[in-house]
This record gives sequence, structure tokens and C-alpha cells, in this order.
Amino acid sequence: MQLSKVIDSIGLTISPSAWNYRKKMDVDQEAAKKGQAVYSPRVLKIYDKWVLGFSNSLIWRCPTTKIRQLFTDHLSSNHLDIGVGTGYFLDKCATDPESRIGLVDMNENALKYASKRLARFNPETYKRNVTEPLLLACDNYDSVSINYLFHCLPGDIEIKGELFDEVNGYLNDDGVVFGATLLSQDIERPAAARMLMKYYNEKGIFSNEFDSLGDLMSAMSTRYRTFNVEVIGCAVLFWGKGPKRKV
Ligand SMILES: C[S@@+](CC[C@H](N)C(=O)[O-])C[C@H]1O[C@@H](n2cnc3c(N)ncnc32)[C@H](O)[C@@H]1O
Repeated sequence: MQLSKVIDSIGLTISPSAWNYRKKMDVDQEAAKKGQAVYSPRVLKIYDKWVLGFSNSLIWRCPTTKIRQLFTDHLSSNHLDIGVGTGYFLDKCATDPESRIGLVDMNENALKYASKRLARFNPETYKRNVTEPLLLACDNYDSVSINYLFHCLPGDIEIKGELFDEVNGYLNDDGVVFGATLLSQDIERPAAARMLMKYYNEKGIFSNEFDSLGDLMSAMSTRYRTFNVEVIGCAVLFWGKGPKRKV
């Protein structure tokens, strides 16, 4: 058993490497809980069809194939996925059977679902609320994905962007962070997308009313030596390489 798993299983979660990083995000913790509460076993069973099959193509206008390509381009064999859902993208895109995979999520159902699907990699699992310090006792990763997570988190992108600081604490110097998120500002939203986003925001499933492309770019430019954003429909696909270290 890996040391990090032993430490996690006995509930000791203090990692010296994490001490320098983020404090608890200044967000409404009730809202943070709502953003993950919807992922029951029943919802997870239909997630791939409803979100990745139907909604991505027909509502958000960002076909899942585009996000798969992002994973294929940036996934390493030493990878941490944050906000795991059903584990679809790692299942489809991780090709190296020797890959080290870490999974972080606040929702036990999602962690169970994804770790079962990815059992062939014997993943490390961490039940964590990302609006709080992660305090993972583990070696760093070469790549980290945070896909479709930001739009579930409360606060504006300036606050959500603090998650990059945390992620950088677990990323090797030439590592890459990548993912996609659905925006409300600075992009064109068809009527169906506006309506569904409004509904999800009212239910607390999404908190992305103020999320803008400009804020995401500014959050990334201060934290990565190089970064890229690409808007496809209502989604922005992003990657940042080489975390800028605070001295
Ligand atoms: C929309 S799903 C995305 C799933 C997957 N990344 C994908 O792209 O298909 C959001 C995931 O983030 C998790 N999540 C939401 N809020 C969270 C939080 N505050 N801390 C940790 N995980 C959270 C949910 O439990 C869920 O698994």
C-alpha cells in the first residue's frame, strides 16, 4: 500500500508541501455542498448520456470529442483528476496501463463510481472539498485535470482561480493543468443554454452566473508561464503549463 493511502486511511492529512498554499476559499460552504450534492448513484448512471452525450452537443454546443482531445493532448501517466464525476475522460483517454492516477472529489458516490471504472489503474482516492485546502500527502503529479468543476463552485472566477494555487502545490515544475468550464459572460449562449444554466444556477447545481472568459485568462496568466484558452460553444477549454512559483 502506498504511504499516501496509509496516511489517508488513518485520517492524517497534513502534507508539508501543502502548508504554503491556499487558505479556505472565501465562499459560502452551503453553496459549495450544493454544487456536488446532485451526484447520486442514479444521476451518475445517466451522467454520460445526459451531460456528455446530449447536453454537450445540443445545449452547450461543445461536443465531448473536443474535450476528449484536450485530455488526449495533455494527460500524462502521472495524473490527478479533480472533480471526477463518472471518470469518463480518464477511462477513454488514459492509455498507459502503468499510469499513476489520483482522484479527488467531495462526493463519495462520484469517487466510488470513478474509482471502480478506473480500477485497472488502482487509483489513489481523496475525499476532499476543493474550496478548502486539499492537504494531500502524496508525491507531485505531471498533469492535473479540473474538468467541468469551476462552474459547480460558488464565487466568481477570481475566487475559484485560487484552486489553481492549490493545484500548483501538487504539480511538478513542467506540469500542466487543464480542463473545461461553462461560462456565462463574454460568450454567445443560445436560448436553450441560457435557460438550462439559469435553472441549474437556481438549483445550486451550477454557480457560474458571473464566470467570464476575461477573468479566467487573468487567473491563468498570473499563475502559469504559458497558457491557452479556446471557446467552443458555451465552454472554454483551457490549459496552463509551468506553474509560476512564489519566492
Ligand atoms: C460536472 S461534474 C464533472 C465530472 C467530470 N470531471 C467530467 O468532466 O465529466 C463535477 C464533479 O465535481 C465534484 N465537485 C463539485 N463541487 C465540489 C467541491 N466543492 N469539492 C470537490 N468536488 C466537487 C462533483 O462531485 C462532481 O463529481
